[in-house]
Amino acid sequence: MAEKLRVLVHGAGWVSTQHIMAFTNNPNTEVVAVSSRKLSSARTRAEEAGLEGIGLYDSYEQALSHDGVDIVCVCTPQRFHAENTIAAAESGKHIVIEKPIANSLDEIRAMREAVHKAGVRTVVSFVLRWNPLFETIKAMVADDALGDVFYVETDYQHDIASWWTGWDEARKTSTGVSAFLTGGCHAIDSLRWFAAQGEFEAARPVEVFAYSGGYRKGLKKEFDYLANKWVDGLPLEYDDLEVALVKFSNGAVGKVSVNYGCIMPYSFPVEIFGNKGTVKDNRVWSHKYPGQNNWVEIPAILPDSADVTHHPFQGQMDHFVECIQTNTESHCNLDDAIVTHEIAFAALQCYETGQPVKLPLIQD
Ligand SMILES: NC(=O)c1ccc[n+]([C@@H]2O[C@H](COP(=O)([O-])OP(=O)(O)OC[C@H]3O[C@@H](n4cnc5c(N)ncnc54)[C@H](OP(=O)(O)O)[C@@H]3O)[C@@H](O)[C@H]2O)c1
Repeated sequence: MAEKLRVLVHGAGWVSTQHIMAFTNNPNTEVVAVSSRKLSSARTRAEEAGLEGIGLYDSYEQALSHDGVDIVCVCTPQRFHAENTIAAAESGKHIVIEKPIANSLDEIRAMREAVHKAGVRTVVSFVLRWNPLFETIKAMVADDALGDVFYVETDYQHDIASWWTGWDEARKTSTGVSAFLTGGCHAIDSLRWFAAQGEFEAARPVEVFAYSGGYRKGLKKEFDYLANKWVDGLPLEYDDLEVALVKFSNGAVGKVSVNYGCIMPYSFPVEIFGNKGTVKDNRVWSHKYPGQNNWVEIPAILPDSADVTHHPFQGQMDHFVECIQTNTESHCNLDDAIVTHEIAFAALQCYETGQPVKLPLIQD
C-alpha cells in the first residue's frame, strides 16, 4: 500500500476540528501535526481527536518543516490566509484553503502567483459543493432535468454574531472586509455552481451590480433567535445586507444575497430555473416527470445548518486526496475560488461607483 499523505492543520479553532476529523477518517491520509498561535489550542485539538505523538507547534514556520508534510490546511482567520497559503506553496505543500481566501485582490494575485509557481494542488472550502442536495441537483442539471439554466437565486441568511469564535475578526472592516466576503461567499459560490450546466463546473461571471444596506452596522445589540430576544453585542463595521445581480458568460443571470440581519434560524434557499424545469430547495418540477401534478421532493440533507459539524468536509477532503493521487486539479481550486471572490470585490467597487462592474477583475 502507498504511504499515507501527511497533513498539517494550521489554526486550531472551530473549523480545524472538521479538517482534522476528515483527514483522520480518510484511509489515505494521516494528521501528523497541528499548529496555532497558542500551543495549548493545538494540543487541545489533538487531544480531542485522540491524536497521540503528533507534532504540536506555535510556529507555522517550524510546523511547515515537520517531517514529510504533504498537505497543509489553512484554518486561521481570513486575514492570514494569503500569507499562510504563500508560505505553504513555497514549501511545496498541497493546500486546503479556508474561505474567504484573502482580504484583497492584491493578496489574491500574490497567492495565485505562488501556487502556480510551486505547481501544488489546492482546494478551497466551498464545502456546500459536497452537500448531498447540491450533488443531487448538479447531477440532475447535467442530466438535462431542468434544460438550459437561465436564472438562479441563492441566499446566505444567517444572524451571525458573537456566538462564533471568529466573530471579533469577521465583524471588523479591517479584518473581515464585508458580509459577502466573510459568509456570503458561500452563496456566491453556489450561484456560480448552479448557473453552470456541467456537473463539476461553475459559471463565469462577466458583470455585477450590487446594493448594500440593512440595519446592523454600528448596532451594539444582536438578536438571539433561540431565546427570541435582543442582547448586548459588538457592532458590525460594515453593512449586514448585500444583494448582487450577476450576468454569466453562458447567458444565465443570478441574484445572490448575504443577510446578517435576518430574524430567524439559519437558512440557505436555492432557486434554479431552466427552460425544462425548476428547483426550489429540495423540490423539483421537471420535463423528466411528465405526469407530475405536484412538486417532487428530493429526500436529501439540506444546506440549512451553520454548524461546521454538519458540513460535508469529508466529501471535500476525500475529493482533494483523490485529486492529489490522480494528479488532477479540483473544480474548487484556488483559480476557481478567485472567480467567486471577484464577485464579492466587484460588489464593493459597485458601492463606490454606482456603476455595473465588468469581470474578471484579475486578468490571466
Ligand atoms: N468552510 C466553512 O464552512 C467554514 C466554517 C467555519 C469557518 N470557516 C472559516 O475558517 C476560518 C477560521 O474560522 P474558525 O471558525 O475556525 O475561527 P476560530 O475558531 O476563531 O479559529 C481560528 C484559529 O486560528 C488561530 N489563530 C489566530 N491567529 C493566528 C495566528 N496569527 N497564527 C496562527 N493561528 C492563529 C486561533 O488559535 P489560538 O487559539 O491558537 O489563538 C483560532 O483558534 C475563517 O476564515 C472562517 O471563515 C469556514
